[in-house]
Amino acid sequence: MTDPGYGFDTRAVHAGQPPDPVTGAVVTPISLSTTFAQDGVGGHKGFEYLRSGNPTRAALETCIASLESARHGLAFASGLAAEDNVLRLVPPGGRVVLGNDAYGGTFRLIARVWGPLGMQWTATDLTDVDALARDWPDDTAMVWLETPTNPLLTCVDIEAVASVAHAHGALVVVDNTFATPYLQQPITRGADIVVHSVTKYLGGHSDVVGGFIAVDDDALTDRLRFTQNAAGAVPGPFDCYLVLRGVKTLAVRMDRHCDNARAIVDVLTGHPAVETVLYPALPDHPGHAAATRQMRDYGGMVSFTTRGGIEAAKRVAAGTELFTLAESLGAVESLIEHPAEMTHASVAGSPLEVPPNLIRLSVGIETTSDLVADLGQALDSA
Ligand SMILES: Cc1ncc(COP(=O)(O)O)c(C=O)c1O
Repeated sequence: MTDPGYGFDTRAVHAGQPPDPVTGAVVTPISLSTTFAQDGVGGHKGFEYLRSGNPTRAALETCIASLESARHGLAFASGLAAEDNVLRLVPPGGRVVLGNDAYGGTFRLIARVWGPLGMQWTATDLTDVDALARDWPDDTAMVWLETPTNPLLTCVDIEAVASVAHAHGALVVVDNTFATPYLQQPITRGADIVVHSVTKYLGGHSDVVGGFIAVDDDALTDRLRFTQNAAGAVPGPFDCYLVLRGVKTLAVRMDRHCDNARAIVDVLTGHPAVETVLYPALPDHPGHAAATRQMRDYGGMVSFTTRGGIEAAKRVAAGTELFTLAESLGAVESLIEHPAEMTHASVAGSPLEVPPNLIRLSVGIETTSDLVADLGQALDSA
């Protein structure tokens, strides 16, 4: 069932997952076999060896590719493994231009793993497309953008960046982890490649680490598939099954995440302990126009700064009960964290450093009034 004519929610449940032709099982089997019998030399049925491909992973790759409106999908052992595979497209000495508040792990991978091997990089404000066009570095092979970003929720106009990048022959990669394909489909806006930390909303239950690449172009897909197999950072079949199971409820979960995030933004806005609320639905948010143009809704992530500086931020982060103080995001349970000393500690002292009084919330799908009360009491005593 890959018919792109079906609606998003239908594809989330069925794409790549017909009933098992042998047993009729409605749930895609977890296919653990590392090797597959051949009728004669080379006479296999599409699978030879588990690292190169297996039925459970194939179902996942078909399903998420369909949700991203992409023709091809490739699953990986983690979001960073997927990113690493994409960065292998950059020629030796080539440059990656990335947003100046990209996820810290992406920055670390580019600057500290690939940088010493010769990769050049520029961290810049991708919301200023005129400056991007004006100051375009000639050796740029790839523009890497997140929208909304982690953790400042900056929104970048994908079409505008893609038109500048493509005029210079550069690839455009969008990390769609925060929005998910339910809220935004970058391929339909000109992106060449979409990457995901499947660990977040796609898995959705804080019980699996995974990554994904969605891509439309056949030649690019061949190159990415070659390194997927040659470098081998692939997910196991059980992990693929967990993600398939998570994705089935993506649409309903995202609707609830967005509704609860709106209620949390209402609590934060105007609270005396809060300095600034960062959420793309707010009309004064710098990314409001881009988000409204390219997203179905504004997502489940909310960030804010505290008036009382870093100490107040840490008190709020430690003062909630339902919002668990923990890294990661995008699952059913609400999480709170202090990026400067947790998820983004690796970018301290770099152009991607985050404010010390910043708090990031991953708003879950619990009862709205419980979340509102929990955060409210933490703010009151900050
Ligand atoms: C936006 C974004 N991209 C990529 C990653 C990396 O994904 P993973 O932790 O699955 O390797 C993360 C992890 O937090 C993320 O938030």
